[in-house]
Amino acid sequence: MKKLLVLNGPNLNLLGTREPQQYGHETLADVEENCRKLAAKYDCEVECFQSNTEGQLIDAVHKAGREFTAGECVGVVFNPGAYTHTSIALHDAIKGVDVPVVEVHISNVHAREAFRHHSYISPVAAGTVIGMGTKGYGLAIQFLLDD
Ligand code: DQA
Repeated sequence: MKKLLVLNGPNLNLLGTREPQQYGHETLADVEENCRKLAAKYDCEVECFQSNTEGQLIDAVHKAGREFTAGECVGVVFNPGAYTHTSIALHDAIKGVDVPVVEVHISNVHAREAFRHHSYISPVAAGTVIGMGTKGYGLAIQFLLDD
């Protein structure tokens, strides 16, 4: 069975209680469960990983890259959190592998503080979903799985 990775960066483990006016009331477990249910309709498994540590996110991208090359992983749905705006290392990690990565932001970062307007991830992403709430994860999955 094919597989995709739902990858979440720093502070997204706090979903549900963190700034609900920006990020809504769903927990990360709710989001991950919805991703699993949607992907199952496409006969696809979902692996979920969240980390507050940049290096662990880089390692997860590298692993997905190896699995893509082996024909096991079809893509990555990635909300890099604040590393979006700071991480050249994550930019390089995505650029260094072949797996398609869809960048997701729950909030509309362009309607927020200026420091959220720049993304190091967008130039190396297969696509971006911004400001669609937690539904954005599902839209990214459809993009990766709809033939
Ligand atoms: C976020 C937006 C980022 O600016 C922020 O640092 C996050 C979440 C979003 O999903 O809207 O942690 O990626």
